[in-house]
Formats: sequence, structure tokens, C-alpha cells
Amino acid sequence: MSFCRVSLLLLFAHLTSSEQPSAPKPISASLREIPWSKQLNFLHTTDTHGWHAGHLQEAQYSADWGDYISFARHLRQRADDDGADLLLVDTGDRVDGNGLYDASDPKGKYTFDILKHQHIHVMTSGNHELYLANTSNREYEQVVPDFKDGYIASNLDIYNPSTEKLQPLAKRYRKFTTKNQQIRVLAFGFLFNFHGNANNTVVQPVQETIKEQWFQDAIRTKDVDLFLVAGHVPVRDSEEYDLIYKAIRSVAWDTPIAFFGGHTHIRDYRKYDNKAYGIESGRYMETIGFLSIDGLSNGKKDVSPLASPTFRRTYIDNNLYSLHHHSNTSTSTFSTGLGRNISASIHSARNTLKLDHTFGCAPQDYWLNRATYPANNSLLTLLDQNVIPDTFNPELAQPSIVITNSGALRFDIFKGPFTTDSEFLVSPFTSGFRQIKNVPYGPAMQVLGLLNNQGQIMLESMVATHGWEKLKNRMQELLPPMPPQRVSSRGSREGQAHDQQIPLTLSSDKPTLPGYTTIDDAGTDGDDTIHAPITFYDLPNCIASPIHFSPVSTAGSQDKPETLDMIYNGFIQDWVLLALRYLGVEREVDDTEEALGGRTMTDVVRVWVEGNWKCDGNE
Ligand SMILES: *[C@@H]1O[C@H](CO)[C@@H](O)[C@H](O)[C@H]1NC(C)=O
Ligand SMILES: *[C@@H]1O[C@H](CO)[C@@H](O)[C@H](O)[C@H]1NC(C)=O
Ligand SMILES: *[C@@H]1O[C@H](CO)[C@@H](O)[C@H](O)[C@H]1NC(C)=O
Ligand SMILES: *[C@@H]1O[C@H](CO)[C@@H](O)[C@H](O)[C@H]1NC(C)=O
Ligand SMILES: *[C@@H]1O[C@H](CO)[C@@H](O)[C@H](O)[C@H]1NC(C)=O
Repeated sequence: MSFCRVSLLLLFAHLTSSEQPSAPKPISASLREIPWSKQLNFLHTTDTHGWHAGHLQEAQYSADWGDYISFARHLRQRADDDGADLLLVDTGDRVDGNGLYDASDPKGKYTFDILKHQHIHVMTSGNHELYLANTSNREYEQVVPDFKDGYIASNLDIYNPSTEKLQPLAKRYRKFTTKNQQIRVLAFGFLFNFHGNANNTVVQPVQETIKEQWFQDAIRTKDVDLFLVAGHVPVRDSEEYDLIYKAIRSVAWDTPIAFFGGHTHIRDYRKYDNKAYGIESGRYMETIGFLSIDGLSNGKKDVSPLASPTFRRTYIDNNLYSLHHHSNTSTSTFSTGLGRNISASIHSARNTLKLDHTFGCAPQDYWLNRATYPANNSLLTLLDQNVIPDTFNPELAQPSIVITNSGALRFDIFKGPFTTDSEFLVSPFTSGFRQIKNVPYGPAMQVLGLLNNQGQIMLESMVATHGWEKLKNRMQELLPPMPPQRVSSRGSREGQAHDQQIPLTLSSDKPTLPGYTTIDDAGTDGDDTIHAPITFYDLPNCIASPIHFSPVSTAGSQDKPETLDMIYNGFIQDWVLLALRYLGVEREVDDTEEALGGRTMTDVVRVWVEGNWKCDGNE
């Protein structure tokens, strides 16, 4: 890892009391200060996806949830000392995607006793809380009570598991007054118009919710100093937040609004107007979003509101170097009793789950988005050149094509030990492989193209035949449960820094630490750590490996097989069937069968690593 060349701060060498014992120690770098307000400050997390132990292979994001608890405690103290306020917000997708959550039975057995110790003032559900009925039932029975007043569900209902009656998952909105400044806040908690939920929850489309009487009454509430809209909703290019913004502005043209968003896993900050801003705080416990507001009115009437309040933001890299700095603490003063206890609980859960069990050692880094494809440091290339052929060659008798969607992979493989934890990070999906036998060679070979760049054309034609509404709903259901991390290709405003120089305001040295270089509506100074930019590359949706035939040598030749068996990740079955239909090959779900004895991508990768990557004792 290139990080390792940068000198470690000796200060941290003996630290054992916080973060996870195996976490790499943070690296010194130039930091920008957080724009602390003497009025109202926020910390924001989103899309943590079970990474509450922090990143154990990336020093830059190696602090854990216990450290976050200590950090919030220090900032709360600072707020009390200043007569200011600090509020915490979390906007969902706390589950799925990391061994700490996924490896236990039931899933999440340890997560919620860890999470609940942070005092969060406003919290929402993400889509991941709703894929399985048992997950949303647990939200209702455990998480909502854990966060008492904080959990808000403005457009989300659940069939109560005991009474089977449909009811709000949590309260629809919350009005409260901050402790020190007595700022009167009215908070909502939304989820984007999601359709892939299990049938025990109902997500009401935002356009319906804003017509409801309770919402119309809420936005007309007198004496509100700030509307706080939290949601598992992107802050940019989202119909949902635009509708909510317009609805509030139509009756409260002047009241400040703070949006907190998520879902797209990016750092972003959007200006809606002079008094309305939204922040989105990344993913996977890499980022703690910081937002501050000055110049709000309050119940004390001792502040004369500025013509426009000042909103400012910082994206804090979640490591102890940053957290110590922003809380003006040191190794000896940082961790609180509770923070240390929570770090210890995380460590003990990881031990119980044996997340550090090593299957093999990666000889180099393999990147999901940080390498071009194909390339010898591309994870997709490793998969389609090595892992898939090595796995399927001995299993299959007939010429076959194995198609996997890149969305089935979530994260890079770092040089060094490949552990139980890595296994869940790289591919947490539980769907196995399926197959369709004896597909005519030509169409079978064209499916990949349709699933990739030509997919648009296929969809347009299918829309023309089947109508948009029906297909749109179907697509929503088909969207991979975990959005693939195509950071730059999703129109994100970070990382597209191939030819951009970040201004070095604090240091004349060129930054050496690769990381986020965010560009948002307030400029380029949002990241607390001054990073060297990382380039993210577009990936194909799907990749394919030929088994027992060679597409090159059979091209135009008489020896090409008449038919191919098509094997694919079960998750994309509907797309494969749709593509085949478009190519004139009618196959139904009944024509498909399980492949590879039900083994999943996670199993495939693990078994391959065990067989191919030895540890030479240097790791
Ligand atoms: C919910 O069901 C899934 C699939 O059966 C299982 O893996 C998971 O552990 C269950 N979760 C809970 C909270 O019971
Ligand atoms: C949800 O679907 C299951 C079958 O998949 C059915 O038994 C149950 O009644 C449905 N629940 C609701 C609330 O519609
Ligand atoms: C940081 O803490 C030290 C004491 O530990 C104090 O002297 C100093 O004023 C503090 N700095 C800030 C910016 O609060
Ligand atoms: C930390 O855990 C210990 C042992 O379980 C307990 O005695 C102590 O009260 C805890 N401290 C805090 C601040 O939660
Ligand atoms: C990757 O490919 C490049 C260029 O083809 C080559 O220089 C490099 O040695 C290769 N690296 C590995 C680890 O195979």
C-alpha cells in the first residue's frame, strides 16, 4: 500500500486504548480546521454499512465507532463551554456490507448494542434496513426504541409484527429546542422512493407524503428557527429533496433549512438557496460530515438573525489523527470511558466472529475502481482471468460463458492477509449462480454487450414494447442491493481530479496521501485532510469468462460451439432473460437452474484465495 511509505506519527505507536488493535496507525497530513460555530454544529454519518470497526487495512479511515463516541463527547463539551450546540444525524444504511454485521447469526447480532451508545438526535432508515422483513422488524422493535425520539420515519410505515396493523415505523417528524442556544428545530426523516422493500414495510412516495395534512401542518408550524431534513436521499439530482425543498419554501420562504443526505456514497454539499444547504457524508465510516450554522434566530431572541445565516461544512477523515486534532485532544486525553468500552466491545465481537481468520495473502493490491479494466491490478481482471476460469473449468463439462456483474463486488483487495473480514467486504452478496443450458452461440455471446454499453438501447426497445411504468418498477426491484462504487461515473463531484490541482492553502508541500479531493458547491476546501487525488475509473456492468472454448479462435470458424451454457450471478437473472428475449431467445425462469451447487461469489473468492495465495510469513 502506498500509504506505508509515508512516515507514521510516533505519537501513536503505543496506542492500544482506542480504535481496533489491528488498525493501522493514522498518518500525519495537513489538515484544514473545522468551521466551528458558536451557535449550531452537526456531525453526520451515513451509509456506514456495518463498518463500525473502521477500516483495518486503510490507515486513513481506521477509527471505530467507540472513537466516534469519544469525539462527539469532546465536541459536546466544547459546545457546552461555548454556549453552542452539537447535534448528531445518521441517515441510514447502517446494515449490510461488513463482517461485523454480516458474519453473525442472526446478522447484526452485535451491531445494535454498539451503535446505541452514540447519542443521535435525528436518525432515518435507509433502503438496506428494508430488504428483509426481519431487518425492518428489528428496526422497529430494537433500533427505534434505542434511539427514542431521534428516529424519524416521515414516509415509511411497517406492519407491526405483533398486531399486523400498518403504522409509522417511527414518529413522522420531531420538534425540539436545542439545549444551549434554544434553537427551535423541526426535523423530518425521509427515504427516497424505494420499491425493493419486503412486503412488511410501505414506502410512501415523497410526492404523496408532502400532500398529507400532518406534513402541511408541520411546515406551517410557527416559531421554527431551522427545518432539518434528514433522509436516505442524495442531496443532488434528487426529485425527492427538490419536492421537499419546494414544499417548505412555498409556505416558509425565509426559514433556514439544513438537508442531510445519503445513498450515493459520496461527499457532497449543495446550495439550494442562501438559507438552505445540504450535506452528504460519504460511506463506510470513512467520513464524518461536519456542518455548522451561524446567525440563526432562536427562542431566546437574544440573537438578531443575520440577513442570511452562514452554513459551512467539512468532511472529516475518520482516523485518530484527524479526530484528535479537531477535538484538541491527544492520545492520552482522547478516549472516554464509554468510547474505550465500545471499542472493546467491537474487538470482542470481531474475535467471536473470527473476522481476522486468514485464508491467504494477496501479493499486491487489486482495485475495484482505482484501476482501469482490464489491467493486472484490476480486481475485475483477477476475477475474469483467474478466479472464474479456475473455479468453473473443472466444474463444467460443456462450453459455457460465465457472466458476473461488477455490482456483485464491493471493495478492493489490499496486499496482505485476506481474512474473513475481507471476504465479506469484497463480496457480501448471498445470491448464488444460476444457469441456462443450450443457448444458441450467437445470442449467448451478445448478452454481455447488451448488459453493458448497449443496455440503454435494449431498455428503450423494451420500454416501447412493455410501457415505462411497469418496467421502471421492475428495474427498481432489480437494482443491486448495494450500489456499485462507481464514484466518478455517477456524476459525483469528487475524485475527478485527473488534471486538477488542489489549492494547497495550509502547506506548501504537495500532498502525498491519496484520498478524497471533493469539489462541491462551496468549492474545493471541504476535505479536512489535504489529499493527493485518486482517480476512479468506470467499470463495465458485467464481465464474462469463456469456459471450454475460446471466442477469439472460434470467431468466424467452423469449430465454434453450436450452443453455450450460460452461467450468471442469480442477481442479474432478470436482466439476462430480458437480454435473451431481446435477442429472440425465449427462456423463462422455469428454464433456469442452480449452478455450482449453490455456492456464492463469496464462496468462490474464498476458495480460490485459499488455493492460490499463500502467506510467506512476511505479512
Ligand atoms: C434474516 O433472515 C436472513 C435470511 O434468512 C438471515 O440471514 C438473517 O440472519 C436474519 N436476520 C435477523 C435479524 O434475524
Ligand atoms: C407478504 O408476503 C407473504 C408471502 O410471501 C405473505 O404470506 C404475507 O401475507 C404478505 N404480507 C403482507 C403484509 O402483505
Ligand atoms: C487546546 O487545549 C489546550 C489545553 O489542553 C488549551 O490550552 C488550548 O487553548 C486549546 N485550544 C483550543 C483551540 O481550544
Ligand atoms: C465500561 O465497562 C466497564 C466494564 O464493563 C464498566 O464497569 C464501566 O462502567 C463502563 N464505563 C462506561 C463509561 O460505560
Ligand atoms: C502489470 O503490468 C505492467 C505492464 O504490463 C508490468 O510492468 C507489471 O510488472 C505488471 N505487474 C504485475 C504485478 O504483474
